[in-house]
Amino acid sequence: MKLGLNIDHIAVLREARKINDPDPLEAIFIAKNSGANQITIHLREDRRHINEDDVTKIIQSSFLPVNIECACDEKIIEFLCEQKPHKITLVPEKREEITTEGGLDVGHLGLKNIIKEFQKNDIEVAVFIEPTKEATLISKDLGVDGVEFHTGKYANLDLMLHSNLSRTKNTIQSYDLDRKTLKFKLEESIKEIFDCATLAKEMSLGVFAGHGLNYNNVSEIAKIKPIGELNIGQSIIARAVFVGLGVAISDMIKLIK
Ligand code: PXP
Repeated sequence: MKLGLNIDHIAVLREARKINDPDPLEAIFIAKNSGANQITIHLREDRRHINEDDVTKIIQSSFLPVNIECACDEKIIEFLCEQKPHKITLVPEKREEITTEGGLDVGHLGLKNIIKEFQKNDIEVAVFIEPTKEATLISKDLGVDGVEFHTGKYANLDLMLHSNLSRTKNTIQSYDLDRKTLKFKLEESIKEIFDCATLAKEMSLGVFAGHGLNYNNVSEIAKIKPIGELNIGQSIIARAVFVGLGVAISDMIKLIK
């Protein structure tokens, strides 16, 4: 199973001061030398972290393949077709959200043409979807090369059950449930991801997963054999603050393996 290192949060630190440091570009060399398999960045419509200059510099300098997450935005699509990353992951986007909430609406009109446009430019395309049978089957019909399953629900349930989050002001209200129910929902969520990953693999799609994965919850997802790649960002960059990026990456790889 491969690790796609999402380095958006390095740019978050830079944008906190609106200066030029830290530069996410520096991370790509450490990522390669620490065993990561892919660099993942999200060019958001509001450019709250990664910007066009980062995209250009990272694609030109990275030894590792580059996966760019983006919404179905006309200008961004045009820009990325020129930049030619290895892979595009189409994600839903809302300006006011803290991070990507929920999977892409694969029934969205025009999605098929957007996917074709990227593929015509020799760019692989994946869609970031909720682990449901329906979304997986529709994605296959759309002609994508792969699907990335949103692990946010699993990660939130795990945080509420196994961490102190429920005792803090950041508790997740919708998962403020008793432990027995949380346990049941967590098992159910793992099964949904397993079933959809198996289905996607059977249909010869690339199978990826990500969102909210951390050092405590990654193992259950890493056990799901059909998944070929995990895209992980926030938890690795957060740990890097204390132990350094190289150690944070290799610690995660040990857990995945
Ligand atoms: N995969 C996709 C498609 C995402 O949008 C994100 C968040 O940008 C991630 C993975 C990484 O999520 P996290 O930062 O929670 O590890």
